[in-house]
Amino acid sequence: MSIAPVANTSLYTIKNPFPARITQNVRLNQAGSTKDTRHLVINLEGSGLSYQVGASLGVFPRNPASVVNELLSLLKLDPEYPLTDSKLGATTLRTVLTSQIALNRVTKKFVKAVHDKLPAGTAKTDLEGIIATDELFDQYVWDRDCVDVLREYPGAIITPEELVTLQAKANPRLYSIASSFDAHPGEVHLTLAVVRYTTHGREKFGLCSGFLGHGAELDTPTVPVYVQPSKHFHLPPTGDAPMIMVGPGTGIAPFRAFLEQREFDGAKGDNWLFFGDQHRSSDFLYEEELTAFQKKGVLSRLDTAFSRDQANKIYVQDRMREQGADLWKWLQNGAYFYVCGDAKRMAKDVHQALLDIAIQHGGLSPEAAKDYIEVTLAKTEQRYLRDVY
Ligand SMILES: Cc1cc2nc3c(=O)[nH]c(=O)nc-3n(C[C@H](O)[C@H](O)[C@H](O)COP(=O)(O)OP(=O)(O)OC[C@H]3O[C@@H](n4cnc5c(N)ncnc54)[C@H](O)[C@@H]3O)c2cc1C
Ligand SMILES: NC(=O)c1ccc[n+]([C@@H]2O[C@H](COP(=O)([O-])OP(=O)(O)OC[C@H]3O[C@@H](n4cnc5c(N)ncnc54)[C@H](OP(=O)(O)O)[C@@H]3O)[C@@H](O)[C@H]2O)c1
Repeated sequence: MSIAPVANTSLYTIKNPFPARITQNVRLNQAGSTKDTRHLVINLEGSGLSYQVGASLGVFPRNPASVVNELLSLLKLDPEYPLTDSKLGATTLRTVLTSQIALNRVTKKFVKAVHDKLPAGTAKTDLEGIIATDELFDQYVWDRDCVDVLREYPGAIITPEELVTLQAKANPRLYSIASSFDAHPGEVHLTLAVVRYTTHGREKFGLCSGFLGHGAELDTPTVPVYVQPSKHFHLPPTGDAPMIMVGPGTGIAPFRAFLEQREFDGAKGDNWLFFGDQHRSSDFLYEEELTAFQKKGVLSRLDTAFSRDQANKIYVQDRMREQGADLWKWLQNGAYFYVCGDAKRMAKDVHQALLDIAIQHGGLSPEAAKDYIEVTLAKTEQRYLRDVY
């Protein structure tokens, strides 16, 4: 049985990521969906990397070749210009721009450098006006990348050495692991929401989600990864303990892994999943797998909340409230309560629903409910576990 995080004995770490290859990249949304959520299978063979369910995968992003090429061309710079990078050593400008620097959001530093290097004239004065007004400047950099700026303000002369200091570093992003290593030896699966939008006439992607979803070629070892174990987010210590899992959208990821692990372990505990997304017909992620888990008895209960299938929004916390009496009984029977996904709104609303259930179905005062959920359940018994982002 897999419970506690184990030390990573692989040579590959955040400081020395493994060049992994994506072997499958399947869109989970059906026709008509507004979302681009993908199931990725990444091969770890030869790395010595493994993981416990509840862990995350760290991924170092890369910028698309088209963006790097256009940037080089707009600045009239030689892609093969030799540079020394603190991580890569002796390398080229193209390599540094591709893998070490985030090019998808322009920084104020970059815009200021462009302004400084522009010849005197109306363009320079125009950009000066934007830079001088905080609100305008914030708005200006919010939805532009470096290419947008150089297209609008051509003619700045920036050296390669300078260029590589102007943008943020291409830091790694974390993704909740969606698979059990026991069920898929040598593989790691992810549930990826691709950040995608069009501004100033150009389609843009989130740096890492764009790279994973649309940039990285299949079966090519070009995805630098490492495993980030979780100190707190893992299966209950015994297979008999019931679990309640709340995972709308990509929040489903670790719960697919939990169910796979419980099936592999032959764990007897009951498992209850709350899942939600926009539309049942197009956004029911892993519907077939979840139905199969239900048929096999691994998933005891499945409650879904498809927010946009009716006039009023219905969210996972509404389903929790509808099932409040049972949910309270499960908690009293020792269930572990897990939440994964959006931290800003969903996790807060789910927390409130939990408090309301303790009041309504547990007969607790508001103060006692707060103490039970936030101290007894979360801290003393460690049965309320969250992986939110
Ligand atoms: C522990 C943990 C687990 C996670 N698990 C998962 C997971 O399982 N699956 C998953 O998909 N993600 C997960 N994430 C989120 C993931 O790490 C990344 O944050 C996510 O993929 C976005 O990163 P990015 O590099 O693609 O986008 P970035 O390049 O970092 O961000 C894109 C930028 O574009 C901006 N933007 C978006 N829309 C617009 C617009 N219309 N106009 C202008 N700007 C816009 C955003 O505000 C953002 O600043 C997890 C995060 C954590 C911390
Ligand atoms: N903190 C963050 O920055 C953050 C966190 C999570 C996701 N995201 C981004 O959002 C995009 C999609 O993410 P995702 O696929 O994981 O799904 P998601 O956007 O989190 O949406 C999943 C479901 O949750 C619903 N939802 C919205 N607000 C909610 C709330 N307060 N309580 C409960 N449910 C709520 C959504 O409904 P409606 O859409 O109909 O309102 C949808 O049905 C991605 O681009 C991802 O990167 C960002």
